[in-house]
Amino acid sequence: MEFCQSVINETLRLGNIVPRLWRKTLSDVNYKGYIIPQGTTVITHIAAMHLDPSAFENPNIFDPWRWQAIKKSNNWMPFGGGARHCIGSEIARIEIAVFLRHLILNYDYELVESGQPVASPLVKFSTGLPIRIHPIGKMNP
Ligand code: HEM
Repeated sequence: MEFCQSVINETLRLGNIVPRLWRKTLSDVNYKGYIIPQGTTVITHIAAMHLDPSAFENPNIFDPWRWQAIKKSNNWMPFGGGARHCIGSEIARIEIAVFLRHLILNYDYELVESGQPVASPLVKFSTGLPIRIHPIGKMNP
């Protein structure tokens, strides 16, 4: 299960369903010498953070093994952070793990058509990345 969580982390890093967080300043904010006036929309671009080479080596490579070394990263925030952190993050992780377990143990699958990942604005594949799935014998629970 530990490696499954690494696969989930890496999937959320590269293909997160929430690429940006939106906030509005309620008062003037001094951030590292920059004055951000009250009422400004501030966007945290999570997808860009997740592809920052100073935070993730070879950021465009799907590499679940990188998570064996990373214990905590402030540059990985698919579920947001702070007071508005996703309340469903743990159930989401469990749901993905259950789905992956059933897919891997009970089905064989093959790629029907390859495609390039595009961000517009959510990450998806140009072809939709269709796969063909076959059950492989008796179902594991
Ligand atoms: C992979 C799946 C999910 C991702 C990537 C995700 C991502 C996020 C993010 C980034 C936020 C913060 C939005 C912000 O700061 O503006 C958020 C908030 C929230 N999420 Fe999720 N979420 C996921 C699944 C779920 C699930 C399964 C539930 C419910 C069972 C859920 C319920 C919520 C709620 C209620 C908030 C608002 C929290 C607040 O504003 O106090 N999410 N989610």
